[in-house]
Amino acid sequence: MGVSIVLVLGLSIAVCHGANISFYGGSIHYKISGAIPEANSQWTEEVQFKYRENGRETCEQQLSWECVGGGCRGGENRQGPVVLTDKDESGQNLWCQSEGNVTRNFSREQNTPYSEFYILSNSGCCWAPNVDGKTNWTMQADVDLGLRNDSRTPNTPPVTTTVPNLRVPQNCFLGLPLLAYDPDGDDVRCYFSVNVTHPNITLDKVTCTLHATSLLSIGAHVFELTLQDHPTTTTAVSGYGASYFRIPLNESSVDNVGPAPFGRVPLQFAVEIQPALSNCLPGHIRPQFLTPTPSHGDVQHAAVGDLYLLEVRAKTTKAKIFDFQISGPQNMTKTVTDEGFGVSRLVLGWTPQESDKKQHIPICFTAETEQSQSEMRCIVVVVGKAVTLTGNAKVSCTPNGITIVVSKASLPKVDLNRLVLANPSCSLTSNQTHIMGTVSLNSCGTKIEDAGDFLVFKNEINTFDAPSAVITRRNSIIIGFSCRYPKAASVHNQYQLYNSNYMFTESSFGTFGYTFDTFKDSNFSKKVDPSSYPVEVKLLDTLYMGIQAQSDLPQVQLFVESCKATPDNDPNEPLSYFLIRDGCLKDETLKVHSANLTEFYIEVQAFKFTGSYDQVYISCSVILCEVRNPNSRCAQGCVNQASRRRRRDIHDGETGQHYITQGPFHVVKEDLPREDQPSADEKISSAPTVQFLSSEMGTKVFAGLFIFTLMLLAVVVFYFVKRHRAEDRMALMASY
Ligand SMILES: *[C@@H]1O[C@H](CO)[C@@H](O)[C@H](O)[C@H]1NC(C)=O
Ligand SMILES: *[C@@H]1O[C@H](CO)[C@@H](O)[C@H](O)[C@H]1NC(C)=O
Ligand SMILES: *[C@@H]1O[C@H](CO)[C@@H](O)[C@H](O)[C@H]1NC(C)=O
Ligand SMILES: *[C@@H]1O[C@H](CO)[C@@H](O)[C@H](O)[C@H]1NC(C)=O
Ligand SMILES: *[C@@H]1O[C@H](CO)[C@@H](O)[C@H](O)[C@H]1NC(C)=O
Ligand SMILES: *[C@@H]1O[C@H](CO)[C@@H](O)[C@H](O)[C@H]1NC(C)=O
Ligand SMILES: *[C@@H]1O[C@H](CO)[C@@H](O)[C@H](O)[C@H]1NC(C)=O
Ligand SMILES: *[C@@H]1O[C@H](CO)[C@@H](O)[C@H](O)[C@H]1NC(C)=O
Ligand SMILES: *[C@@H]1O[C@H](CO)[C@@H](O)[C@H](O)[C@H]1NC(C)=O
Ligand SMILES: *[C@@H]1O[C@H](CO)[C@@H](O)[C@H](O)[C@H]1NC(C)=O
Ligand SMILES: *[C@@H]1O[C@H](CO)[C@@H](O)[C@H](O)[C@H]1NC(C)=O
Ligand SMILES: *[C@@H]1O[C@H](CO)[C@@H](O)[C@H](O)[C@H]1NC(C)=O
Repeated sequence: MGVSIVLVLGLSIAVCHGANISFYGGSIHYKISGAIPEANSQWTEEVQFKYRENGRETCEQQLSWECVGGGCRGGENRQGPVVLTDKDESGQNLWCQSEGNVTRNFSREQNTPYSEFYILSNSGCCWAPNVDGKTNWTMQADVDLGLRNDSRTPNTPPVTTTVPNLRVPQNCFLGLPLLAYDPDGDDVRCYFSVNVTHPNITLDKVTCTLHATSLLSIGAHVFELTLQDHPTTTTAVSGYGASYFRIPLNESSVDNVGPAPFGRVPLQFAVEIQPALSNCLPGHIRPQFLTPTPSHGDVQHAAVGDLYLLEVRAKTTKAKIFDFQISGPQNMTKTVTDEGFGVSRLVLGWTPQESDKKQHIPICFTAETEQSQSEMRCIVVVVGKAVTLTGNAKVSCTPNGITIVVSKASLPKVDLNRLVLANPSCSLTSNQTHIMGTVSLNSCGTKIEDAGDFLVFKNEINTFDAPSAVITRRNSIIIGFSCRYPKAASVHNQYQLYNSNYMFTESSFGTFGYTFDTFKDSNFSKKVDPSSYPVEVKLLDTLYMGIQAQSDLPQVQLFVESCKATPDNDPNEPLSYFLIRDGCLKDETLKVHSANLTEFYIEVQAFKFTGSYDQVYISCSVILCEVRNPNSRCAQGCVNQASRRRRRDIHDGETGQHYITQGPFHVVKEDLPREDQPSADEKISSAPTVQFLSSEMGTKVFAGLFIFTLMLLAVVVFYFVKRHRAEDRMALMASY
């Protein structure tokens, strides 16, 4: 039953090319095809192997395979062409990857116990030059043809791959999560090759993630991993005249010598450690993925003959994304467009063929800049048979939940009594024509994904199998649906709305909101009537403003980290004046009125920016914390600027910073004495400065780049509702 197939570099071909072909790693996946045989019988079946190989200049080497083990007898390799799947077109030859396939008949040998299979270790000559000093390489996949008693089919091994060229700046390498997905739902474990250790690197075998324990030296580091799948409960496997058990992993078992797995596949890759960057934060020099980029480890669905589209977006502000690197199947189409503002978009198209049916296809991608690379994300695409039905379901997103309505007519031949949500204990309702489901954002198995600028909440409608059913003749469906919620309000061009609602959603805090209003007096009970906007306020008036937080969680505390005035509604506008910064009061006229933990009221005297600015906006950065969490930002209070550089991680005890904006306060001319012309210094000053007007009123003047001293007085509040935008991502398909 145990048969090992070993992939070996064809040395003769290397000689033919007259060049040293550098190996940059690869991966293997296989699928045992054909009818399901009787247990305990002679059986010859085709096994389809696909392998991806990585390189720089060339990567279309025809690799020669060697089959080792009793079951190889009489079989022959049938190799498909090696097809280039992705290549660096920038002229730098940073990467290429190709995919090849090998099909071979294996037969189950009578009375061959699994343990008799042996592994041939053969060598290919040339890993790319690397700091580990590795040269020879071997890729090997182990196949077990036995029938599992749980699925009554042979095992399917773990699915994995990487992009061909991983590049990480030395100071930015923290962890590298790899793809380790098992189509049978088995436990996957990742191991380094026996007796291989990597200085300064540890491997989390369960999550298949590399972690750095110290700075890695610059240069290529090569990794040879094996992925194994183990049952979650004891499973019997029957061969021909021999059967055996596969037992669950015992966490005390040592690497590589635990109980025997069902199968093994290799994952080999090089990580090029590059010189340090000044900033590792995604979105600056290193690209950051934006919505609708799928999360790492997502499982998506495609259908034979139907175009499958994968959309990825990424952004950098300090570099240019010139391409995306992809590990994917043959015949993908790849379109990269520049959306402006540092954002690039990749659309990957792929039409699965009949031979892809029931396959689990791994796809990995990174966004590339000259100096750096984004994180790598990998997904698995499950190819089903069937028609894709779209347009017959409607998804609505509300602050607290998602509702989906599917027309029954769009689900022909599906047993509607067997539909469940991701968490089967949540049921669906129906009337004569439609099926309806409502899930809240934190129930029914709804998953939260961080998509950079959005948080995406996903659930799905699924068919469940009757627990006793061995085979299923009815069509099954998966209807994935999601809503996405912007993480931060974008107030641009939205200021006509004066609703004082900001809604945010974060995984540890659920949904919470802020209102930001202007009040008539220091009692903070009467809000300035929205219909009176724009309200004109005189210079000497006092402005009363209040922020109120609402959260479903009972024990939360509001913290106003900063409030600043800007002449437009962009909180990042360089011309600005801080009223509050790092939790410290910065303006002399500012008074904070006592309130409770979720409300914050201030008064401040009206001010203006000098120059031709006719309005003022106030943007505050606010955080919610758990009450009494000593590590939270709220507990820190006013932090002086020197020690200000707190790590911007989002902790469990607090939300991220959110900007809420109020304004504009409209300019009204005051019959104050005209201010003198500004001094020459001010004219050429490139940074905004604050100037104190020598008026006995103590009113402040903000000196800008320009000259005039128009007095602005404040007015208006308004607002912007950051409503959740519904994203109807629907894929209805009958799979298999
Ligand atoms: C391959 O590289 C090695 C060492 O770099 C060199 O000695 C050898 O001649 C090269 N072979 C070919 C065919 O270029
Ligand atoms: C393998 O390669 C052959 C060409 O020899 C091709 O026809 C076939 O579709 C490939 N099989 C798979 C599973 O990709
Ligand atoms: C496997 O065996 C079947 C039946 O004997 C044959 O039709 C098929 O071509 C073989 N496949 C390979 C890859 O040799
Ligand atoms: C690498 O392969 C060559 C040729 O097959 C062999 O002579 C050499 O011993 C191998 N080196 C290692 C470290 O296994
Ligand atoms: C498979 O075999 C194991 C071990 O004999 C047994 O515990 C398990 O119930 C069997 N599973 C099925 C689905 O028959
Ligand atoms: C690993 O190291 C041990 C102890 O040094 C040795 O006995 C064993 O043969 C090595 N295994 C391999 C595969 O090299
Ligand atoms: C491991 O870390 C040490 C100390 O930081 C460093 O000197 C060494 O070069 C590193 N080794 C590798 C392979 O990165
Ligand atoms: C785990 O393995 C150890 C040694 O292999 C054995 O002593 C122990 O009983 C096992 N535990 C379980 C829960 O199987
Ligand atoms: C890719 O496309 C070519 C040409 O259309 C076709 O011959 C080949 O079979 C396709 N390969 C796969 C794996 O779909
Ligand atoms: C079933 O419910 C849907 C969604 O609420 C509605 O649009 C449809 O009209 C209802 N059909 C009937 C027959 O009541
Ligand atoms: C605030 O309210 C109190 C009573 O509720 C009232 O006496 C007082 O005049 C109010 N102050 C202002 C400034 O309106
Ligand atoms: C703060 O006061 C408001 C109104 O006075 C009240 O609705 C809210 O529940 C209070 N919050 C807390 C945490 O006490």
